Amino acid sequence: MKSPVVLKTIAEMIQWRRSVVDQSVGFVPTMGALHEGHASLLKKSGDENDITVLSIFVNPTQFNQTQDLAKYPRTWDEDIRCATAEGVDAVFYPSFTDMYPDNYIFSVHENDFSHLLCGASRPGHFQGVLTIVLKLINLVQPQKVYMGEKDYQQLHLIKKMVQALFLPTQIIGCPTIRNADGLALSSRNTRLSDDERDRSSLIYKTITTAANTTEAKTILEKAGFKIDYLVDIENRRYAAVYVGDVRLIDNVPL
Ligand code: PAF
Repeated sequence: MKSPVVLKTIAEMIQWRRSVVDQSVGFVPTMGALHEGHASLLKKSGDENDITVLSIFVNPTQFNQTQDLAKYPRTWDEDIRCATAEGVDAVFYPSFTDMYPDNYIFSVHENDFSHLLCGASRPGHFQGVLTIVLKLINLVQPQKVYMGEKDYQQLHLIKKMVQALFLPTQIIGCPTIRNADGLALSSRNTRLSDDERDRSSLIYKTITTAANTTEAKTILEKAGFKIDYLVDIENRRYAAVYVGDVRLIDNVPL
């Protein structure tokens, strides 16, 4: 197995991209702490493209709480092992000053769906997400970008941004990967105790089986979870639930 090349600056990224100009490039943007969900995106990219690029950048502008940013898991060695196992060609690992030479004076705003759900409870979150994804796409110049459906609102907004700003790339949504008990894989799951992790499988069970959102909320609240939101929008049920101080999100088609 060949280790991926690690590109730590914009200049390195641009120079490397020029060296693969004739090949199709698939891209998986992440904040690291890779799990099977990310591995499935990398696999799909590897199957569909000549070259796969992974980015690892814990993007401060999308965290509205400094505590949450500080607690975000950083697992570089494991991430590189995963990237190597999945045949990733290049890992882009830039610094904040590289990605934000303007210190975040310029940003991407969406004035509709981004204000609902996660956007309502995390003001500025999607502005940070859309801004960093636009910058990453501009640098990596992929033909295809692979993203998980677990962050369905994020996926939807990024697809809309790509259309609105005429970016020459295709956003490919990929199914949520779950534990055997149904819990959606997330980097945040590592912050749960064993007991919390076991109990969290109730979130998926409940949102898939409850007849309506009122019933789903009642079941989860009785089980001791704090609901951030649990709503049905356009044939999809979205939930954000606190397990202790960890906020987990999930969604299912109705
Ligand atoms: O889903 C994530 O990990 C992040 O929101 C993303 C898309 C990498 C942007 O920082």
